[in-house]
Amino acid sequence: MSLQDGLGRRIEYLRLSVTDRCDFRCVYCMAEDMTFLPRAQILSLEEIERLVRLFVSLGVRKIRLTGGEPLVRRGIVDLCARISALPGLRELVMTSNGSQLVKMAEPLAAAGVKRLNISLDSLDAERFKAITRTGELQQVLDGIQAARAAGFERIKLNTVVLKGRNHDEVPALTDYALSRGLDITFIEEMPLGEVGRERGEAYCSSDEVRAMLGERYRLLDSTESSGGPARYLRVEGYPDSRIGFISPHSHNFCDTCNRVRLTTEGRLLLCLGHENALDMRRLLRQHPGDDAPVREALERALLYKPARHEFSVGGEVQVLRFMNATGG
Ligand code: GTP
Ligand code: 5AD
Ligand code: SF4
Repeated sequence: MSLQDGLGRRIEYLRLSVTDRCDFRCVYCMAEDMTFLPRAQILSLEEIERLVRLFVSLGVRKIRLTGGEPLVRRGIVDLCARISALPGLRELVMTSNGSQLVKMAEPLAAAGVKRLNISLDSLDAERFKAITRTGELQQVLDGIQAARAAGFERIKLNTVVLKGRNHDEVPALTDYALSRGLDITFIEEMPLGEVGRERGEAYCSSDEVRAMLGERYRLLDSTESSGGPARYLRVEGYPDSRIGFISPHSHNFCDTCNRVRLTTEGRLLLCLGHENALDMRRLLRQHPGDDAPVREALERALLYKPARHEFSVGGEVQVLRFMNATGG
């Protein structure tokens, strides 16, 4: 079985947001005074598992759990253990802000999470606080250390590069990753949520980041993929690490899109940059114990997956939904 969209793109990657809650309030992801969804509106763990089984039976091979911060959802480790045991799934992976990893890294690795992406936007405690609004840098650095000790196959750091906030830290963050054998990916900010002029002015293109790195390291081209949107480079002398670029503005990757997103409320978003969605929560609740109508609706909805996002720098085209409700 396999899922295909109307343009013939195979859908093998599901990004699943298990909560819209987070202990951080990153400037590019949430409003400062965010209101979170009431419990009755979010999928239960049983509903998530039912959907995951359906997606895997239809050919999804990679599942990334996201949030908000996935580790603040109660029962997350058990959920991971149940998902990772599903025959047919190639990998269960997670994106986290790192704040809970000191206690959670080991149980997560034991529950079958293969790779971990951890957000790290600054190595300066004050700047880190300014970007995350509530985050403590040391807690995240300790979390990264705990993750390294827990035996994940790969750990990747994610940095959203913002002029005036952290772009001058690209070399320091890269040194941090390379010296620990970690991957690092630099991301161009996308205009989701409340986008004022300030956010457009902070734009830093992947080409600028690459130029900064070229002054410091010998960069080697690579055709590797982690099954997501990143393009990678290798660095001479650091065989364990890769440097990735996610460039929704400057190098569009939509023609090779292989993914869909499921929000905390069970809306299947066909594209990060559009509101087209299928209400899977309603379908699940209308058809308890019968997946056939859910599957049919899913296959039909995929035919309407948009060709590409229409984001632009500064956000003339915006999506009002915040990233935390979307799952990154
Ligand atoms: P791997 O390749 O598996 O390591 O993960 P990833 O890079 O796909 O996932 P991650 O959760 O680390 O996301 C990194 C960045 O990529 C985030 O800013 C996401 O919003 C962005 N991203 C992931 N998928 C898409 C996509 O389909 N479209 C767009 N525009 N951005 C995406
Ligand atoms: N643009 C780009 N990346 C974002 N992330 C969150 N919000 C945005 C945005 N507006 C990133 C986080 C995290 C990943 C899931 O998505 O840094 O690493
Ligand atoms: Fe796919 Fe939409 Fe992301 Fe483009 S923006 S890669 S079409 S999900």
